[in-house]
Amino acid sequence: MIKRNFILSALLVPAAMAFAQQYGGMWIPTEVNEKEMKEMGMKIDAKAIFDPNKPSIKDAVVQFNGGCTAEIISPQGLLLTNHHCGYSQIQSHSSLENDYLADGFWAKNQKEELENPGVTVDFINGIKDVSAEVLKGTEKLDQKAADALITANVKKVQSTYKLEPHQKVLVRAAYYGNKYYAYLIDTYKDIRLVGAPPSSIGKFGSDTDNWVFPRHTGDFSLFRIYADKNNKPAEYSKDNVPYVPKHFLPISLKDKNEGDFTFVFGFPGRTTEYLPSIAVEKIRTEIDPAMISVRAVSLKTLDAQMRADQETKIKYASKFASLANYWKKWSGEVEGLTKSDATGKKQAYEKTLIAKNPEIKTTLDEFNRLYTAQGPYALHRAYYSEIIRNSESLTLASHYLNYLALAKSGKLDQKTVESFTNRLSRIYKNFDAQLDAKVTARILALYASKLEPQFLPQGFEAFKDETKNLQTLEQFSKNSIVTGRAALNGATASEAIETLFKDEKSLAKALESDPILKLFATLRASYGSASETKFESYQDQIDALQKTYMAQQMATDKDRAFFPDANSTLRVTYGKIAGSNPKDALYYGYQTHLSGVMEKYIPGDYEFDVPQKLIDLHAKKDFGPYANASGDVPVNFTATNHTTGGNSGSPALDAEGNLIGLNFDRQWEGTMSDINYDPRFSRNIMVDAKYILFIVDKYADAKWLLNEMKIIK
Ligand code: ARG
Ligand code: ASP
Repeated sequence: MIKRNFILSALLVPAAMAFAQQYGGMWIPTEVNEKEMKEMGMKIDAKAIFDPNKPSIKDAVVQFNGGCTAEIISPQGLLLTNHHCGYSQIQSHSSLENDYLADGFWAKNQKEELENPGVTVDFINGIKDVSAEVLKGTEKLDQKAADALITANVKKVQSTYKLEPHQKVLVRAAYYGNKYYAYLIDTYKDIRLVGAPPSSIGKFGSDTDNWVFPRHTGDFSLFRIYADKNNKPAEYSKDNVPYVPKHFLPISLKDKNEGDFTFVFGFPGRTTEYLPSIAVEKIRTEIDPAMISVRAVSLKTLDAQMRADQETKIKYASKFASLANYWKKWSGEVEGLTKSDATGKKQAYEKTLIAKNPEIKTTLDEFNRLYTAQGPYALHRAYYSEIIRNSESLTLASHYLNYLALAKSGKLDQKTVESFTNRLSRIYKNFDAQLDAKVTARILALYASKLEPQFLPQGFEAFKDETKNLQTLEQFSKNSIVTGRAALNGATASEAIETLFKDEKSLAKALESDPILKLFATLRASYGSASETKFESYQDQIDALQKTYMAQQMATDKDRAFFPDANSTLRVTYGKIAGSNPKDALYYGYQTHLSGVMEKYIPGDYEFDVPQKLIDLHAKKDFGPYANASGDVPVNFTATNHTTGGNSGSPALDAEGNLIGLNFDRQWEGTMSDINYDPRFSRNIMVDAKYILFIVDKYADAKWLLNEMKIIK
C-alpha cells in the first residue's frame, strides 16, 4: 500500500510540475516569479528572499571561496557548506598524526577554530539591471567596436558606486549579452574551520556513488566568518570576532513529504540551455564522447595501480576524484541527452519558432553552417585539451614552456618565478613519473588514432602504438628535466625545483633540448596551426549569433518565462521534493535513511566503510529528535530544483525560508540539465538538515554549536 502510494505520487508530481517548470529555471533573485512560487506552495514574499534595503535571506547566503555556496546558520556567523567544498581546507590542516580527512575535526570552542589563509566569502549586497547603461550607443556598431564601448560603459557604471575597501562591483552579461547586471559584493577574509565529519561520512560512497541516487552522503562541513570589532571584513587576526549577520537561517526539523515546496539559493556556475539543436547534437555525439574517451583511458590506468599499491592510492586520490567527477558527469549527460531526446525536442521547438518568425530560419541555417564548419576543430580542441589535462608530463611541460618563453623574452621577475616553482612543486608532490608515463603513452596512442593526419604533428601516426610510446617516453625521461631529474617525489621535489630554478641560464639551456618539452611543443604547435585560430574565429561568430538567437527566442516565444543561463552569480531555483521514475519500472523514492548507510556498509572499504560510532548509534537507535515518523534518520533527499556545479553547499529552503537541506549533487539520469533540464529525470540531491544535526549532536557531541542555532521542531 505504501509502495503504491509512493509510485502514484512519484508519477504525479513531475507530471504536474512539467507544466510550470518544463525548462527548469535559475532566477535572478530580484526577478523571481513570485506568483508561480506561491502557487507551488511558497508562504513568504519574494522580498523576504532578496530585499536590498532590509535584512533578507540573501544576507545569509555567500559564495564560498569563489566556487561553492555556503550559508549562515547562527547569529555568530556559523557557516555551513559541503565537505567537498571545504575539502582542501580540511586537508591543509591534516597530518599523519591529525588526519582530519580520515577522522573528522571538531573544534570544542571558538578558540579551537582553525584559520584558512586565502579563503574568502562573498556577500551580494545589491543587484542592478544596468543593461541600458552598458549597451548605450552599441546598437549600430560592429562586434569589435561594440565590445570596446561595452568595456568602457562597464567602467563608467562601476565608477558610479562609492565603495568601501572590502567592496567591489562586478558587471556581468546575461542572456548572451542582451542584458547586463551589476553586483555589489562584500568580501570577508577571516574564515575558520569549525567542524567536519570523517570522510567515511562526508564523502561516503565516494566515486562509486558520485552523481548517483539513492545516495547516503553526509557531505557537509562547518566554518565561521570572523570580522573586526566593527563587524567589517578584516584580514585574519586573533583579535577578530565572530561576524554578526543581518540574517541567518533557522533550521527546520519537520518531516518532509513528497510534493513539498522547496527552493535553492546559491551560485550556479555555468549552463547552456538556449543552444540550437546542432550544438546539442555536437556535444552529445562528438565533444562529450571525445573527452570521456581520454579520461576513461587515464582513469583505468590510474585505477589499476591505485588498487595494487597503497602509496599510489594516496598520491592520486584527489587527482583521480577530480578527473572521475566530470568523466562520470559527461557520461550521464550523454545518456540523459539521448534519453530525453534533447536534439529532437530542440528541433521541434525550432520549428515552432520559425513558424512564428521566419527570420529565425536564417539564424538556424547559419548556426548549422558554423557548427558544421567548426566541428573538426572543436573535436581537435576537445582531444587536445584533455590529453594535456590528463597527462601530468604534458601539463608540466606546458608550464616549463611558458617559463622558457618568459625567460627568453627577459620578462621573468622573482614573483613569476615563484609562482612557477609553486605550481610545479604542487604537481611533483604527488607525481609518479612511471605511472604517468603509462597514462601518457596510452592517451597519445588514442590521440594519434582518433585524429585525422592533418591535425597531428608530422609523423605522429607512429604514436598509435602505446607499447612503443611507453618505451619512447621512458627513453625521453632519462634526459628530461620535466619528468626526470626534477621529478623527485614528496618533500624533496620543492627542494629540487628550487635548486633547478636558481640557475636560470642552465635551466633554460637544458629545457631547450628537453625531449618531453619538445614533444609537448610539437603537439602545441600543431594544435595551434591546425585548429586553434579557426576554432576561435568560428566561436566568435557563434557567440555573436547566439546573442541574436537568444533575443529572437525571447521575442518570439512570448509564453515562455526565460531565465539567464548560469554565470556564477546569485540565483534562486525552486521546485518540489520528488522522487523519480528514470527507467521503465524503476522508481526512486525521494529520501534515503541511516539504515541505507548500513546496507551499503563494507568494512574497511575505502568508499563504503562506516565509522564505528555511527554503527553504534544506528544499532542503539540513539537518534534523538532527528528521526522522522518512520523511526529512521533521513540522510539525503531529492527535488526538482534546477541546479548545477557551484550550487554545491547551497541551502535548500522550505516554504517559510527555513533550512531543510544542503545541496551537493544531482542524480545520474538528470545531469544533462546543464543543457536540457527535463523535469522527468532532473533531480538535485541534498543532505537532510536532520542528518547534519544528528551528526553534529550525536556523532560529534558538539552541543555548543547546536546552542547557537535556531532549530524549529
Ligand atoms: N558530483 C558532485 C559535484 O560536482 C560532487 C563531487 C564531489 N564528490 C566526489 N566523489 N568527487 O561536484
Ligand atoms: N556537485 C556540484 C558542485 O560541486 C553540484 C552539481 O553539479 O550538481 O557544485
